[in-house]
Amino acid sequence: MVQYAFLILPSHNRVYADAAPALARAELAVISAALPDGAIDADSVAETVIGGAPYVTFDAGELSERDASLLANLSSLYVLFEVTGESLRPVPLHRLDRYDDDLLTILKYPGKTNEQFTKLLLNVTLASSAFAGELSAPGAPGPVGRRLSVLDPLCGRGTTLNQALMYGFDAHGADIDARDVEAYAVFIQRWLKDKRLKHQADFSPVRRDRKVVARRLTAEFAATKDEYKAGDVQRLEVVEADTTRTGEFFRSASADLVVADLPYGVQHGSHGGRAGDGGGNTLARSPLELLRAAAPAWVKALRPGGALGISWNTHVARREDVAEALAAAGLQVLDDGPYRAFRHRVDQAITRDILIARKPAGALSRATGRGAAAS
Ligand SMILES: C[S@@+](CC[C@H](N)C(=O)[O-])C[C@H]1O[C@@H](n2cnc3c(N)ncnc32)[C@H](O)[C@@H]1O
Repeated sequence: MVQYAFLILPSHNRVYADAAPALARAELAVISAALPDGAIDADSVAETVIGGAPYVTFDAGELSERDASLLANLSSLYVLFEVTGESLRPVPLHRLDRYDDDLLTILKYPGKTNEQFTKLLLNVTLASSAFAGELSAPGAPGPVGRRLSVLDPLCGRGTTLNQALMYGFDAHGADIDARDVEAYAVFIQRWLKDKRLKHQADFSPVRRDRKVVARRLTAEFAATKDEYKAGDVQRLEVVEADTTRTGEFFRSASADLVVADLPYGVQHGSHGGRAGDGGGNTLARSPLELLRAAAPAWVKALRPGGALGISWNTHVARREDVAEALAAAGLQVLDDGPYRAFRHRVDQAITRDILIARKPAGALSRATGRGAAAS
């Protein structure tokens, strides 16, 4: 057995920085179960302080390159070391990241889900799916042999979508807030131009029977010109629509992962309270009601073997009720061991938790679509 230690990524958000070591420990425990080669001793995972800085330590067999590349994507990992006595030897790491990290950091707005937390939620969801191996495969497509596809049916201004793109996946999203979808469309088109990435993008109304039923952003792009020429492109698609209409825009069984941060259910300028909770029509739904109403459509969009990960404010919905809503929609909820260790305080009005659930691999589905729009 070798001892390893990883330095926790410094966070600009002090509250998140306080929660980060415990979250990192839980994330490591979930992800290590997906490690193909060197099993991590789950009982050895611990938080510690070395030289005044926070670390997570664990014992494992010699890590293979594949193990190390999977761990490289941990949301709070800054540097990984092999520990020998008093000395720390850095382990070379290759992250999946395909683009500059400003894809995730440029947009700042009230209601943005913390980027580090979004990465954690995506990682844990992916590690819990039948496609976990993709996390250790720099460059796309990985072991699954095709590009993975992530759907965020409450995508806001795209934090989950951008993290999925960063990993080389396709990204699909829906949000009811016109300002959010528009701001994201403007941002991503500007970003693609600024980065001089070969791309095509369009943001236009979707019409049915000559009536505008939604607005939709579509984009195709690649990290290199050669990939673009060869048609090896990443696809992005975002609709401005109520999330319960997900089935109108995204084919059944087309998303490998569904990842969403539910409205926080509080009138709070900086946590999605602006749109998800205010007055008027569907926006007035409580987060739990919204989940109950939308979960069947989300599950339909999910491929068998895929997983769904959601986060929510425990002050407005109990964990058991959220779990029940997911189970009622036909998912297997993962609710033991490290899956119960993600609860953390965001501020006095919000304590955030997550739940991960799997769509049974044998789930019947008539569709075989590859993940694009149905209309
Ligand atoms: C907590 S925020 C998600 C923020 C997002 N992760 C980000 O970083 O930009 C919840 C989102 O749910 C959206 N929302 C609330 N009710 C909705 C509905 N019925 N249909 C679609 N989106 C909805 C809100 O507009 C808000 O953007």
